[in-house]
Amino acid sequence: MMNIAVPKETLSREKRVALIPDAIAPLKKIGLSVLVESGAGHGAYFEDADYEKAGAKIVPEAAKLLGEANVVLKVQRPTDPEIAMICEGAVLISFLYASGNPELLKRLAGRKITALAMELMPRISRAQSMDALSSQANIAGYKAVLIAASSLHRFFPMLMTAAGMVTAAKVLVLGAGVAGLQAIATARRLGAQVWGYDVRPAVKEQVESLGAKFLQFELSAKDLEDKGGYARELSEQDRVRQQQWLADQTKEFDVVITTALVPGRPAPRLITKETVARMRQGSVIVDLAAETGGNCELTKADEVVVAHGVTIHGPTDLPSAMAVHASQLYARNVSELVKSITKDGKLNLNFDDEVLAAACVTHEGQVRIGKS
Ligand code: NAI
Repeated sequence: MMNIAVPKETLSREKRVALIPDAIAPLKKIGLSVLVESGAGHGAYFEDADYEKAGAKIVPEAAKLLGEANVVLKVQRPTDPEIAMICEGAVLISFLYASGNPELLKRLAGRKITALAMELMPRISRAQSMDALSSQANIAGYKAVLIAASSLHRFFPMLMTAAGMVTAAKVLVLGAGVAGLQAIATARRLGAQVWGYDVRPAVKEQVESLGAKFLQFELSAKDLEDKGGYARELSEQDRVRQQQWLADQTKEFDVVITTALVPGRPAPRLITKETVARMRQGSVIVDLAAETGGNCELTKADEVVVAHGVTIHGPTDLPSAMAVHASQLYARNVSELVKSITKDGKLNLNFDDEVLAAACVTHEGQVRIGKS
């Protein structure tokens, strides 16, 4: 029988787990057996007994677990010791951030591991249930608003009280993709007045359907959306014009949440330090792009910076901070991928499948990134 193995994540602040107990029955139903390392779910409040009850076998240590695995499910990319423990020919499914990690790919190929990178799921309808970047970005968008609300020294909603009226906070969300749309929805639910902005005009309707207003700015480039639905990088000239325009816009807001992303590129720089200096005293920026350099020039990854009276948050591990639901959604994403690469309880790798072709970065000793 094919073994699906779930090791405990080794990165110290990673609380997520790749499979939750509820995800085990559907895998057993298609003829797979599930092995879970003892303590793997602890950070997300899923204990060994919950996994056992759901039909998984608990294995006390990683070496034994990985040595028996046909398919390994992880959240964070594997460390060198973990790679050494995975059997030759096994499949690894994980976030790998493959394009920035050529050394990792070489090591995986060297061990003849078939590695599927969760960040490379194509954004096509059939792969929606496997889209882990989206499931996790959704969480980040939600959490970003809660961080902003709790560090803002003002209410989000408008209030009429016996002691007088309080005006609603004004929130601007830059980048209206997955995280941005969730941030807009969450800020609206908390009662703020919300504006959204994106370089892709196609999202205007989505922003407005969430009860926010769309800020429009004419760029010289017209075709800013690629075939995959992602934004293209701006020209130097448009970037500077956009920065100047945003410097005028942001000074009207109490909260700015930045989520702008161009895949495979450093984070687009939307807010310069001069822009921060012009913002309202006491306003708050939450920059979701801190890990890739920040949409704001003053952002420091995993730090809170206060500059010119503006508080700038650069959290990079928001999904881990909501480990229960983050793990639940991620488990569904990886389970769907497992289903798509198995047939009658056996591995069935079909490289004509668009999803596998896009996600597979190493196979039979070869690095194959970019071959889809
Ligand atoms: P997405 O691709 O769905 O959305 C990004 C949006 O930015 C797109 O709508 C795109 O058109 C827009 N954009 C690109 N360049 C722009 C520019 N110059 N001006 C305005 N808009 C621009 O990406 P998603 O999934 O929403 O992720 C957003 C960010 O959140 C990414 O940087 C991602 O890495 C990050 N993230 C952060 C987490 C954390 O814990 N901090 C967790 C998960 C995601």
